[in-house]
Amino acid sequence: FTRNRLQKKTERTCAMIKPDAFLNAGKIVNAIVRSNLRINQLRMCKLTQQEAAQFYAVHSERPFYPKLVDFMSSGPILAIEIVGEDAIAKWRSLLGPTNSETARAERPDSIRAKFGTDNTMNAAHGSDSDETATTELDFFFGSGRVGQCANLSDCTLC
Ligand code: TYD
Repeated sequence: FTRNRLQKKTERTCAMIKPDAFLNAGKIVNAIVRSNLRINQLRMCKLTQQEAAQFYAVHSERPFYPKLVDFMSSGPILAIEIVGEDAIAKWRSLLGPTNSETARAERPDSIRAKFGTDNTMNAAHGSDSDETATTELDFFFGSGRVGQCANLSDCTLC
């Protein structure tokens, strides 16, 4: 059985609204829904430095890594499981280029253009493949998920 090349594939992807765009989360959620993508799960949490380091471990040798880890653990985030036809590419297209300054020049209507600042503070994340989507969705929504409150006095958002 070969899939008709015109037939699109239903995919899951992991979106994350980063700390710099948290106050614009409503508008970003609205953009997801208006694009015919569905939100299957959504949660708010705040990453510790260790959790942020784990999420971006693939970049651990890059010079920007310490700054990225500091930023990603600096405030609350919203993790979102998006489901839909070609969800991975569609969500990354809505995001625009990685660098928000580039996004403003090349894709002024994109989420990173509208809500991000620069190369590090760029408003939102999107998985880049099926494999990373699976890993990232497990990170936020799986049984050992990050950002759990052990009890109310130990809430990671406090
Ligand atoms: P990358 O995987 O290259 O981009 P994308 O998020 O578009 O898939 O980079 C991951 C994150 O690392 C990016 O969202 C922001 C941060 N980053 C920097 O802080 N500086 C940089 O020079 C780059 C390339 C990325």
